[in-house]
Order: sequence, then structure tokens, then C-alpha cells
Amino acid sequence: MTKKIEAIIREEKLEDVMKALRDLGIMGLNVTEVRGHGRQGGVKLSGRVGTYQIDLLPKLQLNIVLSDHNVEKTLQTIRDVACTGATGDGIIFLYPVEDVIRIRTGERGHDALIYKDDIDERRDKKK
Ligand SMILES: Nc1ncnc2c1ncn2[C@@H]1O[C@H](COP(=O)(O)OP(=O)(O)OP(=O)(O)O)[C@@H](O)[C@H]1O
Ligand SMILES: [Mg+2]
Repeated sequence: MTKKIEAIIREEKLEDVMKALRDLGIMGLNVTEVRGHGRQGGVKLSGRVGTYQIDLLPKLQLNIVLSDHNVEKTLQTIRDVACTGATGDGIIFLYPVEDVIRIRTGERGHDALIYKDDIDERRDKKK
């Protein structure tokens, strides 16, 4: 079975999170720019022109589709690296994925999610 992790993180954390994921062997992912707000509903900024409210803050959304058995490790890695402890660290959503089809080869499901030197290949090598 396959899941999708949608992690909304601070822009400045992207590099560290990507590196940690690569070290873990998570190879397939994509990133999009998003704007949103969580519990605080935006931020109040004070500048020369006075105080103003920004309702939608820029964040980065990391999308990763992966096999079930790699989900917990990946969630933990993202949280470990993306957490500063301050408000605005982000949020992670987890979804079930119906299927994956690699366009070039027609591979489906787990077969479409095999990458060179990925988390599964590394684990099998250790055995
Ligand atoms: N329920 C939600 N649905 C979709 N996107 C959300 C939701 N909650 C937060 N987001 C997105 O996640 C981003 C992260 O928000 P933020 O880190 O401020 O979360 P929070 O829940 O307010 O936690 P914290 O208290 O740590 O700030 C938001 O800017 C928004 O893009
Ligand atoms: Mg918040």
C-alpha cells in the first residue's frame, strides 16, 4: 500500500529537510510554494508605515508518495529537522494513495516507486 505525505514547512528548512530525506533514502518528491495560515491566522507586522496584518504566510509544501512501511521513519525525520519549537513550524498531512503509474514504463504501485539506492534497496543490501 502507498501513502502521500504532504508536509508544509518553513522555507528556510527546505535544504536541511531535503538533505535528511536523501540521507534516509527517500528519492522521489516534489515541492510547491504555498500560502496559508494555521492556528494564529497570520501575523501582525510593525513597520515604518504602522502595524499591518499579513493573513497568508508563504510556506513550502513537500509532497512525497512512498510505501507504507517507510512512512513513520519519514514523518519522524521531517519533524526532527523542520521543528524549531516556535509557532509557524508547519503541519504534516498523511493520505492514502490509490495507485501510481510511471508514464514511461507503465509500472504501477510499488514497482513505480523503486529508485536507485533508495531506502528499500539500502535495507535489502544490509541483510
Ligand atoms: N487545516 C489546514 N489545512 C490546510 N493547510 C493548513 C492547515 N493548517 C495549517 N495549514 C498550512 O500549514 C501552514 C503552517 O501553519 P503553522 O505552522 O502556523 O501551523 P499551526 O497549526 O498554526 O501550528 P503552530 O502553532 O506551530 O504555528 C499554514 O501556513 C498553512 O499553509
Ligand atoms: Mg501557526
